[in-house]
Amino acid sequence: MTNKLVYFIGNWKMFGDISQIKSIKLLHQVSSKFKKKRKRNKIVLCIPNSLINFFSKNNKYKSISIGAQNCHHKEGYGAFTGSESASMIKKVGAEYIILGHSESRLDGDNNKKIKMKIQSALNANLTIIFCIGETLKEKRAKKTFSVIKKQLRESLNIKNNPRKIIIAYEPVWSIGTGNIPNMSELKKIFIFVKREIKKILKIKKSPILIYGGSVNDKNIAKFSSISEINGFLIGGASRSPKKFVDIIKNYYT
Ligand code: PGA
Repeated sequence: MTNKLVYFIGNWKMFGDISQIKSIKLLHQVSSKFKKKRKRNKIVLCIPNSLINFFSKNNKYKSISIGAQNCHHKEGYGAFTGSESASMIKKVGAEYIILGHSESRLDGDNNKKIKMKIQSALNANLTIIFCIGETLKEKRAKKTFSVIKKQLRESLNIKNNPRKIIIAYEPVWSIGTGNIPNMSELKKIFIFVKREIKKILKIKKSPILIYGGSVNDKNIAKFSSISEINGFLIGGASRSPKKFVDIIKNYYT
């Protein structure tokens, strides 16, 4: 295994409270342990907005960053009851933001809206974690490549700063189901997505591309065989510090 940088990004969804600040220390310890062994890693916790200020103020570790899970598509301030803009989220301490998650797409997000969210988050100097992926129906209809191509083309554009973009391939059929892709199919998808992003953003360097969907401490080792994977977006298992730590340990050992 090379010493490439690997992202371990937790997506807590609508769970969590301030008592979980304790888990940060454990995550920092495991991150440092592997860094000393030249295994470069970065941990990001994408938590509910209500916890961001508290967590970012009480997080003293550089190895760990705090992120949000969505924002309103309009920038700055406005009459949008119940919403928060990217710049408001940035101001309370977030450095990252998940956009285009399939659960947000179910709640009304579409490629056009996600494009606006990406732009406003980049303008607010957040690093975006842009989720793409096909549903089970689309997979069965062999539309995986066309669906993700459309999602990428309709939401990204050449003006976006590639250094602030992480793409998360999350097949919808894998999220929270315990089902993970076949590794040789996944490798093909990763090669395809990387090629597409290079074309859209007109960049030569490979973009950061991570995998998400039912990642756990038991299956993580399988993914380490795919060199194109730059990290993981972890939902359910990231809420337990022990499981999160075991994912990192088992990835490297
Ligand atoms: P999961 O969720 O790990 O629980 O499948 C991943 C996600 O929704 O980002």
